[in-house]
Amino acid sequence: MDEFERVARAAVAEAGERLRLAWRESKVIQYKGPVDLVTDTDRELEALVVSRLQREFPQHRIVAEEGTASGADQGRRSQYVWYLDPLDGTTNFAHGYPSFAISLALADGRDLLFGIVHDPIADETFVARRDGGATLNGEPIHVSLVGELDHGLIGTGFPYDRREHVDFYLGFVADFIKSAQGIRRKGSAALDLCYVACGRLDGFWEWKLRPWDTAAGALMVREAGGIVSDFRGGPFDLHGEQTLASNGPLHPAMIEVLTKRLDHPGQL
Ligand code: IPD
Ligand code: CA
Ligand code: CA
Repeated sequence: MDEFERVARAAVAEAGERLRLAWRESKVIQYKGPVDLVTDTDRELEALVVSRLQREFPQHRIVAEEGTASGADQGRRSQYVWYLDPLDGTTNFAHGYPSFAISLALADGRDLLFGIVHDPIADETFVARRDGGATLNGEPIHVSLVGELDHGLIGTGFPYDRREHVDFYLGFVADFIKSAQGIRRKGSAALDLCYVACGRLDGFWEWKLRPWDTAAGALMVREAGGIVSDFRGGPFDLHGEQTLASNGPLHPAMIEVLTKRLDHPGQL
């Protein structure tokens, strides 16, 4: 693991410095869908990190958001898979809103082994090692102790098909507005999960995240003492549609809210 971690940390640090500098530069923006952006920086950072990983671990598979690695993956048989989001929070980045990160995780088959999420503006690096805890800039982190949803600050986000399903997604938001102390939409799911891990948020739910959004953050939450599952409390699936993370004590109450809504999606 030391070698994997050394390479991952170095690649993310290099990409992070590039991202920090690019933040104030003008951006070249393209649309992948009506509200789904990609910038030159997403692609540049992905190429940088992927090339470092491929050079050091040529047999490993890499699953990266912008698809840089997919062609080169063919024929690789290693059980090790890297999940990379080179820029989580692209919309924020494109608008100069300082909330975005690089997220990188390593899995052995289905088991997450290591995760790193780096926020270059706040200069915060979150790291999790399987059975080794989670840290923020080298200091151990833990989930919050908040025990009642009424007192919980809950994060969320909206998937890229939000315009087609506004009422459906707003139903869940309405329920948490009624039951939690407050809700936040930060615009970077990887950072949302890290914020649960370090106690800045007490819970988080989001539909339709992808493995590169959640792999590092899910390990972070677990290693910081929290829980990650689907909306009904079943096993979290990196490739599934539902991400629910909490400090643990709030998990049953969040499952209750989400289950009621799943069973009665029509009523606001
Ligand atoms: C997005 C962010 C956002 C979440 C979206 C993601 P991107 O990732 O994590 O918070 O709400 O669902 O797709 O596109 O900025 O890498
Ligand atoms: Ca993302
Ligand atoms: Ca991204």
